[in-house]
Amino acid sequence: MRAIAVTDQAAGTAGMKLVERPERQAAINDVVVQVHASGFVGTELTWPSTWTDRLGRDRTPAIPGHELAGVVTGLGYGTTGLSVGQRVFGLTDWYRDGTLAEYAAVEARNLAPLPDDVDFTVGASLPISGLTAWQGLMVYGRLQAGQRVIAHGAAGAVGSMVTQLAREFGAYVIGTGRAADRRKALDFGAHEFVDLDNETLEDVGQVDLVFDLIGGDIGKRSARLVRPGGTLVSIVGPSQARPADGLAVDFVVESDRAQLGEIVQRVQDGRLRTNIGTVATLHDAVAAFNSTERRQGKTIISVRP
Ligand SMILES: NC(=O)c1ccc[n+]([C@@H]2O[C@H](COP(=O)([O-])OP(=O)(O)OC[C@H]3O[C@@H](n4cnc5c(N)ncnc54)[C@H](OP(=O)(O)O)[C@@H]3O)[C@@H](O)[C@H]2O)c1
Repeated sequence: MRAIAVTDQAAGTAGMKLVERPERQAAINDVVVQVHASGFVGTELTWPSTWTDRLGRDRTPAIPGHELAGVVTGLGYGTTGLSVGQRVFGLTDWYRDGTLAEYAAVEARNLAPLPDDVDFTVGASLPISGLTAWQGLMVYGRLQAGQRVIAHGAAGAVGSMVTQLAREFGAYVIGTGRAADRRKALDFGAHEFVDLDNETLEDVGQVDLVFDLIGGDIGKRSARLVRPGGTLVSIVGPSQARPADGLAVDFVVESDRAQLGEIVQRVQDGRLRTNIGTVATLHDAVAAFNSTERRQGKTIISVRP
């Protein structure tokens, strides 16, 4: 099968190559999925799990990409809950070969059914950004209607999901980002927008919840805006500062079939809009990941156009 492989951590996306790899075998509780579309997060090549297994041993050449939408073509021993021919989407294990390939072996529990009216490109764009937003707001942030939320990077892949879900659940949403992203963030549902390069974040006053995907100085300054009893949720590692009288939580997204169902249902009924930037074929994937243009939304690889 054709796949994108990486062997050289120092090379970054420039080291990605389109190669031939053996077809995937389904282990216990796995399914093999014929990948129709794959999602890739720009920071993946900096994650340790891309390069080593759980014992720290070199696992290169590795196939990146951890989001997929496709069709089940094989079931491993003892696998239940999915069937051959079923359309699925989901989030794959960080430490296993991923989805920038014609086939992927995935634990069945990491997948959910993809409805017929949601195309594969959209399906592959949802798992990481949708689940991360859902878990950060609902599970770790314990969002309540009427609360004030800062959605950093509100025009990006995760931030646009945070903005829409927080708004749907009755929050007052303050989006942030670059000056050029104001319109897009407001279109996704932010009530107001802070251009972090030219405006003062502190002017927004106190909030109940900060969803931080930037970190560093922005993360530190955000912690000071959390009101007593509020929460700073970070998806970029432990915060360097904690709210004076609130919680600081950092987490890495996990697959969850019920939550994937909630997300795709919202896409079907129009409550949630995905944020896809570039769509490229597997043949053009390396060039797409190495583009010098500013990324707008998620890059999706249409593996079977
Ligand atoms: N822990 C987890 O489970 C998890 C899950 C998903 C993602 N993540 C992490 O979350 C981060 C965001 O992911 P994403 O896919 O949403 O990325 P993305 O699509 O690139 O969105 C990030 C947005 O934030 C903006 N931004 C970043 N730094 C900024 C700054 N200093 N000032 C103003 N705007 C800024 C970016 O603008 P520019 O492009 O102009 O910088 C972009 O619009 C990544 O680091 C990713 O690894 C973590």
